[in-house]
Amino acid sequence: MNIFKLTVLMGLAVCTLVAQGKSEERVTSPDGQLVLTASLNRDGQPCYMLRRGGETIINPSVLGFKLKDGDLSRDFRVVGFARDTKDETWQQPLGEETSVRNHYNELTMRLRQRHGQQRQLDIVFRVFDDGIGFRYVFPRQKSLSDFVIMDELTRFNFPFDAKTWSMPVDGTVYYEALWTADKMSRKSEVSTPITIEARPDLCMVVHEANLTDYASLKLKPRAAAGAQGVEMKAELVPWSTGELVFARAPFATPWRTVVVGRTPADLMASRLMLNLNDPCRIDDTSWLEPGKYVGIWWSMHMQTKTWAQGPRHGATTENTRRYIDFAASHGFKGVLVEGWNVGWDGDWTKEGDKFSFTQPYPDYDLKALQQYALSKGVRLIAHNETGGAAKNYEAQLEEAFALYEQLGIRAVKTGYVNALMDNKELQHSQYGVRHYRKVIECAARHRLMVVNHEPAMPTGLQRTWPNLISGEGVRGQEYNAWSTDGGNPPSHIVTVPFTRQLAGPIDFTPGIFDLRDRAVRGTRPNTTIAKQLAEYVLIYTPWQMAADEIENYEGQPGLAFIEAVPTNWSETRVLDAVIGQQLVVARKDRYSGNWFVGGATDETPREVTLRLDFLEPGATYKAVIYRDGEGADYKTNPYPLAIDQRWVGSHDKLTIRMASSGGFAIMLQ
Ligand code: NOJ
Repeated sequence: MNIFKLTVLMGLAVCTLVAQGKSEERVTSPDGQLVLTASLNRDGQPCYMLRRGGETIINPSVLGFKLKDGDLSRDFRVVGFARDTKDETWQQPLGEETSVRNHYNELTMRLRQRHGQQRQLDIVFRVFDDGIGFRYVFPRQKSLSDFVIMDELTRFNFPFDAKTWSMPVDGTVYYEALWTADKMSRKSEVSTPITIEARPDLCMVVHEANLTDYASLKLKPRAAAGAQGVEMKAELVPWSTGELVFARAPFATPWRTVVVGRTPADLMASRLMLNLNDPCRIDDTSWLEPGKYVGIWWSMHMQTKTWAQGPRHGATTENTRRYIDFAASHGFKGVLVEGWNVGWDGDWTKEGDKFSFTQPYPDYDLKALQQYALSKGVRLIAHNETGGAAKNYEAQLEEAFALYEQLGIRAVKTGYVNALMDNKELQHSQYGVRHYRKVIECAARHRLMVVNHEPAMPTGLQRTWPNLISGEGVRGQEYNAWSTDGGNPPSHIVTVPFTRQLAGPIDFTPGIFDLRDRAVRGTRPNTTIAKQLAEYVLIYTPWQMAADEIENYEGQPGLAFIEAVPTNWSETRVLDAVIGQQLVVARKDRYSGNWFVGGATDETPREVTLRLDFLEPGATYKAVIYRDGEGADYKTNPYPLAIDQRWVGSHDKLTIRMASSGGFAIMLQ
């Protein structure tokens, strides 16, 4: 017999409906297009399947766990189903848009095992117009207190073997590999997010949201039995001992997410991951600010300066003053200085425990420099490379962050260069995830924004902790200084926004203007100058770097675009998107209402025609267009930059030619 309980909350059309006795229920997206079915199979294993417009896009896929002391994947009965729905709009202090709509229908399947200890497990499904999320909740119960997860059995059973963009786990550190496309079945174990191009009208992304006190997700493909499809099984990054997650009930896992769109542009527009994170936990966010910065950084990667003390030490008082002066005269709010603190002189990648995060080198006057910077409207950005020695960092966190706060520093870039954290655990294991959260929360207490290099893959935590402003977890610009494989390929910048960027903001560090082959191993950015400018719009981060040595910006006309481009947006539109080939994005400045457009291509020169119908109807805008000049070609002639001005309105179109690995950047004001 079914018993239904209906609760109407505060006059909103929000209801809780509990159904007992059924072992299958459906929940649809608000627009009715996506239908998720949750059920139990014959073995009492929980399963879900997903349809879009009547077509199955995920076949029945099992769920559950192997715990150290028992099986939590079968022998279940359904205790009941509960429903909920939400339609809210929330604001983000820093983001690709100001307002985000969070609109979903929810179904919770409450399970209890029939035999043995009769353990309970809830699975919560949320269905949005742009995809699904589900998480496991271990309720408080007598027969489950502390527990250890040895395997998460979650499957994504796709009825097709589609082209999938992903990054392999093997041989990759800190997620710094290229994203490559292949049939899903030909992939080895991969990190998430993975981006699937199933058909011209079906694209999907599998990732996770709200990674809290858990291990990062990986996926392993297996041919689905008797079908043409491929099943992706969840794998978790383990502790060194082989266990995956230590937990205590009540406990909720991160959300497993599947974004569903018609086009790659839909994937970029989805905010499902953010919506599945908790609301902001910082009461007063008024101190969070977007900005751009320069830094004593590229010179170390080019080996013209050193992090360590000596004749080529980069972080000297004198050199830093030059950077502060440059920042002040060109409107940059931050100056990053690497190698300022004690600990860099030996092999810092092996001796991270020698780092001090408060003691500057003798040739670097931290206090005077920060004072000088403040007097010019600029702030230093503290750099905290740990060499992976997380314990050493944690022991100094409070003191270091209190010092930075007291000096008026607002941002810290953290780093964990080492194959392992504390010589034992992986950065993206539960161990690392716990450490990163300590840093973020401590930083929030001291009003510090964090740019996390060598991170766990981001999962939208910036909704809850908006002081986590950006991260690495990408083959960034630095690879163009020293990688032995010729640097990032021309397709990189038109791939990353559809893959890594779906996980969150990226500290990619664009803006290299000196494109000569003068680097350490004969590599350099494989782009034209115009494409370097485009990156300021295509790559999203609330703090964006102008990464080159400041000398290289002197007299460069392209600098005006970097000075003008904002980093906090009220709206974002993807105008043209082919993964790995071309991308055009328009973003509206949150403060001035001006629009900025960035476009880029891979090695194939292309012409694009942009409809400017995103502009305010009836208004006239001055368009300043930075594009590849005559003869530009990333390999042979990367420098020609043409700058045109035109008056345009929302009915106009602009046709722009991009050179081989070229691009363009437009200001509309
Ligand atoms: C690797 C980081 O990605 C890079 O930005 C930094 O300069 C070095 N580590 C040193 O911390």
